[in-house]
Amino acid sequence: MIRKSALLLIAFPLIFVACKGPAPVEKSTPITPDQIVLQLRLLDENILKVQAEDPTTPNGQMLVMPRTINKDGSLSLCSTGDWTSGFYPGVLWYMFEMTGQPEWKEKAIKYTATLEDEQFNGSDHDVGFRMFCSFGNALHLTSNPDYIPVLVQSAKTLIARYYENVGCIRSWNFNQENLQCPVIIDNMMNLELLFWATQKTGDSVYYDIAVNHALTTMKNHFRPDNSSVHVVDYDTISGEVRQKNTHQGYADESSWARGQTWGLYGYTMTYRFTKNKDFLKQAEKIADFLLEHPNLPDDMVPYWDFDAPGIPDEPRDVSAAAIMASALYELCTYSEKGDIYYHQANKIMESLSSTYASAPGENYGFILGHSVGAKPTDSEVDVPINYADYYYLEARVRKMDLMAY
Ligand code: GLY
Repeated sequence: MIRKSALLLIAFPLIFVACKGPAPVEKSTPITPDQIVLQLRLLDENILKVQAEDPTTPNGQMLVMPRTINKDGSLSLCSTGDWTSGFYPGVLWYMFEMTGQPEWKEKAIKYTATLEDEQFNGSDHDVGFRMFCSFGNALHLTSNPDYIPVLVQSAKTLIARYYENVGCIRSWNFNQENLQCPVIIDNMMNLELLFWATQKTGDSVYYDIAVNHALTTMKNHFRPDNSSVHVVDYDTISGEVRQKNTHQGYADESSWARGQTWGLYGYTMTYRFTKNKDFLKQAEKIADFLLEHPNLPDDMVPYWDFDAPGIPDEPRDVSAAAIMASALYELCTYSEKGDIYYHQANKIMESLSSTYASAPGENYGFILGHSVGAKPTDSEVDVPINYADYYYLEARVRKMDLMAY
């Protein structure tokens, strides 16, 4: 969440790099705010229909949040423990922020409440995604103090995964035969919860861990061309890097699109809280890697991996585009290249709102289609995904704030 801040003048014409790659679907009229309302009302109805069947995971956990569309065409719900469970409450909070309508606030409160126990879920680093997108937005929009202890406990849960010798928060617990302290670039996103926790409590422990994590990641995740690897595994005793790989990308040396955008968003947000120019420079370097990449299509919606072998016949990842747009709307307020970043974000949003938006009544009510979860495992390829909708709405809110300034 950023609030209105000084926006640099953004009136200069842009020089675009000529890029290749056709859009995969036909152009349509841009989705309107009213159509977004109708889509999300439809999604809510569809969730209730699936919930009426009392669905559970194989472990017996209730399925509560919409996540995507299954291969058989059915609506996929996830449990509160899923890494994406915070995004649907966050979507509802952004709808309340945009419309001011109580219907969205009521739904947002209801779905946010289902996540309360997740404040203690330290089984991975995703407590930041789960809790800050839901409870974080809830606190911001309602100022209800009941949300504060839940968020502070969530931050405590997250820092319990910090390895002093490494200088990073451990991301995953699985594959312990091969990995000691795996840290994924996505983990940059969870730092916002920690920066908030120091602001709220006055205890610098959260801030210090967040800064160390960002510094260690800056040192070890990035390649000379400013792209990032997905996973860096560290030795928990010596803190040395043991191995690097790109679990969700095409190859270890490739640039997985969403990972690049997590980095862009993460370093932009880290600059917001620290005002350390090294973090701003890192965010600019990532932005320039993305925006100047020869494989970024003209419509600015990346292929799922910048090095995917079948480009231009590879699926796009709309979620990466939405994260990139939202991050660029923040970065443009800090950077001397703000005019470029602002206009590029607008271009991404125009594509998402037209070419990649669901037709009215389609996709169970998800706003956008055409995201990729994990192509190497053929999981969630070219489908709607909750986090694409979340960052798309966040980008719309950020743009509205910039225009109102
Ligand atoms: N954080 C997991 C993903 O981006 O797929």
